[in-house]
Amino acid sequence: MTVAIIAAMPQELSALEAVLHVERTDSVAGRHFRWGRLGEEAVVLTLCGIGKVAAATTTALLLDRYQVRAVLFTGVAGGLGAAVRVGDVVVGTSLLQHDMDASPLFPRWEVPGTGHARFMADVAWSERLAAGARLVLAQPHEALMHFGIRSVPGLHQGLIISGDQFIASAAASTALRTALPDALAVEMEGAAVAQVCADFDRPFAVLRTISDRADDQAHVDFPSFLTEVAAGYSRDIVLAALSAATAPTCASFAGCVQPG
Ligand code: ADE
Repeated sequence: MTVAIIAAMPQELSALEAVLHVERTDSVAGRHFRWGRLGEEAVVLTLCGIGKVAAATTTALLLDRYQVRAVLFTGVAGGLGAAVRVGDVVVGTSLLQHDMDASPLFPRWEVPGTGHARFMADVAWSERLAAGARLVLAQPHEALMHFGIRSVPGLHQGLIISGDQFIASAAASTALRTALPDALAVEMEGAAVAQVCADFDRPFAVLRTISDRADDQAHVDFPSFLTEVAAGYSRDIVLAALSAATAPTCASFAGCVQPG
């Protein structure tokens, strides 16, 4: 069964698409699905567009019509956590819709009918993405210099929050930080993917490169960062995660001794 890789914007998927050997394409509801292989793994690549509804529609199509076995979302996000800087990578362990509020009928952020505000990402896929990120971030990245980044970028794992707003003011990001102090990053799709995957009981993981600090400078940093840095990170980290998923385990070799 196939692994789906989704991004919101063309620049976020462009470098991965360039290395995909396309075997077939399909279009439904304005989404274009490109099927092929990345390494040993059968994959389908698609753009969902920006925002939670666009992401939910795309995810539902992938799960119901195409029965994909897992959904990986890749793209950029605004950094919220104090230690989360432009150029860092965040892998979401849980996802929450920061603009969901049906209070006082339900607790703030809880998705009515689910009993949950936070939706847990798949541990195995998230760990593969994190391991891939550690490898990729350890390499020198010339492009980071263009954004004044001289330190080695960091990897963070924790809460990612999503909403139908591009957060581009200090006031808006401070409000989110105050309300949800453990949120590492903010974006516009991940928690919608998470909710749909929970409905279908299918695993998902979210990988985000930090393109801005969700402040008054956010829109300035964002477009060039997408093409110069995030596209390459997405490609290299997702490829590393996919190859870890298909790599033979120690148990498959006779006489293999597990390290103690
Ligand atoms: N994606 C990248 N940066 C973002 C921001 N500041 N707000 C929402 N989504 C984003």
